[in-house]
This record gives sequence, C-alpha cells and structure tokens, in this order.
Amino acid sequence: MAGGAVPEHNIVLTGFMGSGKSSVGSALAALLGRRFIDTDAVIVERHGPIPTIFAEHGEATFRMHERELADELADETALVVSTGGGMLIDPAIAERFKSSGRVFCLTASPATTIARVRADGIVDRPLLDTADPEARVAELLAERSEAYARFEAVPTDGRTVAEIVDDILVRIRG
Ligand code: S3P
Repeated sequence: MAGGAVPEHNIVLTGFMGSGKSSVGSALAALLGRRFIDTDAVIVERHGPIPTIFAEHGEATFRMHERELADELADETALVVSTGGGMLIDPAIAERFKSSGRVFCLTASPATTIARVRADGIVDRPLLDTADPEARVAELLAERSEAYARFEAVPTDGRTVAEIVDDILVRIRG
C-alpha cells in the first residue's frame, strides 16, 4: 500500500449501481479510520425503503432527499461517502461534492454490472426492477456515461475490493 499523508478533504465515490461503491467506501473508511457515509443507507434511515419512496412519492422525492443530504455532507470534512448511483448525475450535487473533496467514479462493464446487481438483489433498486433489467442497465449507462465521465475513473472489473481501495489510496496520496 502506498505511504504518504491523506488530505483531510472528503473522499466521495460515485458510479453506476453495482460498481462497488459501498464495499469499497466502507473498506477505505476503515483503513483510514474515517467516518463512512452511505447516502442510500442514510436516506433509508430517515425516509424508509428506497422502493417505497419511489412507489409512493416518486423518483423526484428521492432526488430531493439526495440533494438535501449532499448539502449536509459537503459541509463536513474527512468523510468517505458512497453515493447512490444517480446522485452525482445532478450537476449541482456534483459541484457541491467536488468543492468539498475528491470524487472518484467506479466503473464496470455492463456484463459485470448486471452480474453484481443480480447477485445483490434487483428489487431494492426500483430503476432496474423491470421486465428487462439488462436493457434498462444499457439504457441508463448510455444516458449517464457523459455525466460519469466528468469524474476520475477507477476501474473495478476483475479487481478485488482491496485492490480498488489500494488504487484510490495511491491516487490520494500521490
Ligand atoms: C440509483 C442507485 C441506487 C439508489 C437508487 C437509485 C440510481 O443506489 O440510490 O435506487 O439512480 O442509479 P446504488 O448505486 O447504491 O445501487
């Protein structure tokens, strides 16, 4: 693992569903002795299950909860934040987090993405809970590729969580 000091600014992970943000974020936080925030988990704690928010109040309400949370978190320092896959697609949220720290986008091929979300459970992800989740993944990836490309990409295909964490550490200590 690379040596050197890690700046106190926030480390924020974005990337498509199934890119490994939560596993990588919690391992990174544990290694650095930092507080770990999973934005989906905070929203669930405050507002209930994500599928219920989407079904009863609509996606716009979920996005509003994300914006409120982004404002809170961007005012803090030394956090490791794993964000929901659509959160930093919002340019205002992306700017807010960029000004409070370093943002990395975990990337994965469509095949890896599908395999991971199937293993994790599609029902918790209302955007993929459709008759053809593969097609939906392809559609969303195409829609979002430009937005994700604004961040520093960290590839995850064929890599372990420890290898991805190490890659991020090398970059922040560099
Ligand atoms: C979403 C991703 C999910 C969750 C919600 C919407 C998205 O988080 O925030 O279902 O728009 O990509 P994960 O990326 O942690 O699955």
